[in-house]
Amino acid sequence: MNNRIVSAFIGLVVLLASSGSVFGAGGGTTLQHANVNIRDTAAIQRGAQLFVNYCLSCHSASYMRYNRLAEDLDLDEDLVMDNLVFADVKIGETMDIAMRPEDAESWLGKAPPDLSLISRSRGADWLYTYMLTFYQDEAGGWNNLALPNASMPHVMWQKQGIQKPVYATHDGVETVDHLTLAEPGLQSPEEYEDSIRDLVTFLEYLGEPAKIKRKNIGVWVLLFLALFALIAYALKAEYWRDVH
Ligand code: HEC
Repeated sequence: MNNRIVSAFIGLVVLLASSGSVFGAGGGTTLQHANVNIRDTAAIQRGAQLFVNYCLSCHSASYMRYNRLAEDLDLDEDLVMDNLVFADVKIGETMDIAMRPEDAESWLGKAPPDLSLISRSRGADWLYTYMLTFYQDEAGGWNNLALPNASMPHVMWQKQGIQKPVYATHDGVETVDHLTLAEPGLQSPEEYEDSIRDLVTFLEYLGEPAKIKRKNIGVWVLLFLALFALIAYALKAEYWRDVH
């Protein structure tokens, strides 16, 4: 193969490999890798279950309708109604919450943002790190390494257990060096990490539902382009044979 074709090929492969990366906003802490696989439908289903159980009471996902969820995740609409819908809503409605934003603000100090697009603004690794780094401070309140002084309580503490901070002093400034699990939860650390990976996979899907289909189509488009490049090259060789 000619050099130019080889480099075009490499270009395509690089494009394919980099298309999934998200450059999320960093935090005060080193981000841990979520390693989500957006094509893992079972993970998105488990994540959806966690989301409606642990998050939807405060956060809406008002760009998502339950029937779209059913369609994308290959779930029967009745199954979705029975397992994912607790409020008095119909299958065609969006994932909203009953709480009024003003009430949420006065109870929690800050209104919980809609999470429809959170994976796009924060990125999967940030969300994963955020859900893993809640800890209880000396005063007994919740704090978080990715979002210091977050007004969100650790809603999944029963699963994870209670983490406590270990401090270190650098240049006279005391910071949290790492967290230790002071009280184990219902899940082992590995199981909890898997649950959070599922939850973040769901949030990734939520941020861009078309991604599931697009990723599948994308592979075929790139294969087609590669094949087409070969045909075009063969055609060029054929035309120029007479000229030379
Ligand atoms: C009790 C209500 C409540 C529940 C339940 C809750 N949150 Fe929150 N959440 C909040 C509040 C309040 C904030 C705003 C925190 C702040 O900015 O200080 C927040 C902030 C966040 C943020 C940060 C948004 C940003 O970019 O600043 C994320 C991400 C988040 N929540 C995810 C979740 C997930 C995932 C769940 C379910 C596992 C969940 N929350 C459950 C109240 C809640």
